Amino acid sequence: MQRKQFQWRDYTISYLEEGSGDSIVFVHAFPFNALMWESQIKELSDSYHVIVPDIPSFGSSYPTPEILTMELAANFVNALLENLKVKKASICGLSMGGYISLAFTELFPEKLDKLILADTHAAEDPPEKKSQRQKFINQIQEKGTEELFQQFIKSTLGPNTRKNNTDLVLYARNILEMAKPESIISALRGMAKRPARFQILKKINRPVCVIVGEDDIITPLSDAEDIVNATPNSILKVIPRSGHLSNIENPSFFNSVIRDFI
Ligand code: MLT
Repeated sequence: MQRKQFQWRDYTISYLEEGSGDSIVFVHAFPFNALMWESQIKELSDSYHVIVPDIPSFGSSYPTPEILTMELAANFVNALLENLKVKKASICGLSMGGYISLAFTELFPEKLDKLILADTHAAEDPPEKKSQRQKFINQIQEKGTEELFQQFIKSTLGPNTRKNNTDLVLYARNILEMAKPESIISALRGMAKRPARFQILKKINRPVCVIVGEDDIITPLSDAEDIVNATPNSILKVIPRSGHLSNIENPSFFNSVIRDFI
């Protein structure tokens, strides 16, 4: 995997790039970074130009914005495409990456080839989710990130992964530990501010693939169905033996869905 970086406004954007052909951008979940897409980079770069940014200030991109809005993150993705002189790309976003991909679709519709929304949803945060995010912010400020990480491992990885794949649990935990407290707070603030994007889905005139892990309890099947019902040209794929992180829990199934769709 080749790591590269470029300067956009005050930001240094770090990204991984591999392969050639049609371009696909993979946008990571909260509070992970580009490394969560390692299997996609390894397997799909034989046929595609795979581009994977670290959304600031996760991974090696910096500095930390006060609030990482989904629109700001979508602008990072657009700046990266411009930097690489890519006129049109497919975008695949998982969870927070999905929120960012939807913001990208709204802001730069002419740049979108195909859209893949994995383990995500299109609604805004209900009031109880907003207050839960504020609780996390307080908890991080008072006690650090450990509790959040433990909770995150329990809720993001499916029961099959937690029981049978300790290597993968460790792998996810290692990526989580790279997240700085200030980056997590900035993204929590940004996600709480995002609007619902069902109207955008109704207007998308490009093909959309919605993916969900069969055991995802954060954004369950009903969230994926809501997206499919709102999106004219869409398909739904359920990833077996997988929770919220379907791309790392069952990478071969996830990657075959991407190949068939693209
Ligand atoms: C994610 O996996 O990106 C988060 O669970 C998204 C969220 O907190 O809404």
